[in-house]
Amino acid sequence: MTTRMVEIVRREEFSAAHRLESPHLDEAQNRALYGPCFTDHGHNYGLEVAVRGPVDERTGMVMNLADLMRLVRTKIIDAVDHRHLNRDVDFLEGVIPTAENVAIAIWDRLEAELQAFPQCQLHRIRLYESASNFVDYFGRAPSTPNR
Ligand code: NI
Repeated sequence: MTTRMVEIVRREEFSAAHRLESPHLDEAQNRALYGPCFTDHGHNYGLEVAVRGPVDERTGMVMNLADLMRLVRTKIIDAVDHRHLNRDVDFLEGVIPTAENVAIAIWDRLEAELQAFPQCQLHRIRLYESASNFVDYFGRAPSTPNR
């Protein structure tokens, strides 16, 4: 019998401030690289969390979207909404809060929580910084041992 694999996606939104500054660059280099993003500013972010798995015959679901919603809200949104990403968020400590790095940090935090749902696999974190700019993270490259 064929297993039907389905991807389910939960979308949430949050507003946060940040500032892009690399500790590897001096002030002039930071200003040249990041321009206006070198000063405090904010975004209305969109976050999509995609989880894949087989459709459970008993429930007809991959994972209850209500469970996924609760996880995303309690573990991510509550921690970042109306915060300053450079200084208020413990799981972003020491990270340059670009969309790339924020997406990776969100993945790491959610992947740990999804251990409670062993039939599902986290597949993609999509983070919108604006309507026209977004990044996708798919986890570690396949060549590395633990994924
Ligand atoms: Ni920005």
